[in-house]
Amino acid sequence: MNVLGIESSCDETGVALVSTQAGALPRLRAHALYSQVQMHEAYGGVVPELASRDHIRRVLPLTRAVLDEAGSTLQQIDVVAYTKGPGLAGALLVGAGVACALAAALDKPTLGIHHLEGHLLSPFLSADAPTFPFVALLVSGGHTQLMRVDAVGSYELLGETIDDAAGEAFDKSAKLLGLGYPGGPALARLAEGGRADAYALPRPLLHSGDLDFSFAGLKTAVMTQHRKLGPAPDAQQLADLAASTQAAIVEVLVKKSLRALKATGLQRLVVSGGVGANAQLRQQLNAAALRRGLRVHYPELALCTDNGAMIALAAAMRLDAGAAVAARDYAFDVRPR
Ligand code: KG4
Ligand code: ZN
Repeated sequence: MNVLGIESSCDETGVALVSTQAGALPRLRAHALYSQVQMHEAYGGVVPELASRDHIRRVLPLTRAVLDEAGSTLQQIDVVAYTKGPGLAGALLVGAGVACALAAALDKPTLGIHHLEGHLLSPFLSADAPTFPFVALLVSGGHTQLMRVDAVGSYELLGETIDDAAGEAFDKSAKLLGLGYPGGPALARLAEGGRADAYALPRPLLHSGDLDFSFAGLKTAVMTQHRKLGPAPDAQQLADLAASTQAAIVEVLVKKSLRALKATGLQRLVVSGGVGANAQLRQQLNAAALRRGLRVHYPELALCTDNGAMIALAAAMRLDAGAAVAARDYAFDVRPR
């Protein structure tokens, strides 16, 4: 079966074609991505109306590019999958609308996919694919969750953030330090030249005994520390503060992930979502796993942040697991929250 996947929940338009294969994981045939980051940069964050309009401009040309690259035609598509939510309502409607229109024209069924399930399953596209069961650490701009995953569709929430997401902590701290949007990669780059122990920042809920997270207080601590540096901090002070901030976020993520593995008795951790691209997080998780004989799996770097491949993959894995496709009335809705 050939599954076309369309992702348009935020500021990346992603399209991909995945093929299911009997007795094996689905295979990624081609994927294409257009990032709107430059457009939103000037505003310091995503402008929903502009995002929707740009998805409209990109989605069909990207679909054409994907089919060309895969050597496939529209008629060879069996199912059209799209991100149903969560995300920006207008942006989601573009992907859902185009997916349903394509499917209607082709007389094929559709499948709406939860964006986080896409992230969660994305490591199955990497050369070092995990096997079930595992603990998933899902760290994106909007979510921070630990989950027990026993199979496709079998997800048990073990803990999550009670306020800001890890990506949000990166983004908001980066903004305080005068870095651009999106802040995560920029803060990580600045942190490379800094000392992680330069400033003592809080590790919220580190010893709470549960698997929940809290990052809102960290942002306030970064702001306070930044103020103390005076109106014109030097480059080294800023790098030190960036490194200290990153260290605080990473330490909490690593410790809670290890605690989740211990609590479930599982040996495998799967990390996904944009923050999963963070080099410090990967390095520290790998080191901790090596010491304890655990395995950690990540998506390919290019598939950590939003993309169409994870949506097509999640749909293909759901179909392989026997999921029903939507009735062909092509009435669609989205679930922003
Ligand atoms: O998964 P994603 O693309 O979108 C959401 O579904 O939210 O994640 C985006 C988030 C942003 O907060 C971004 O700053 C963060 O992932 N991010 C990073 C890195 N790359 C992306 N954070 C830290 N280090 C990175 N290298
Ligand atoms: Zn995402």
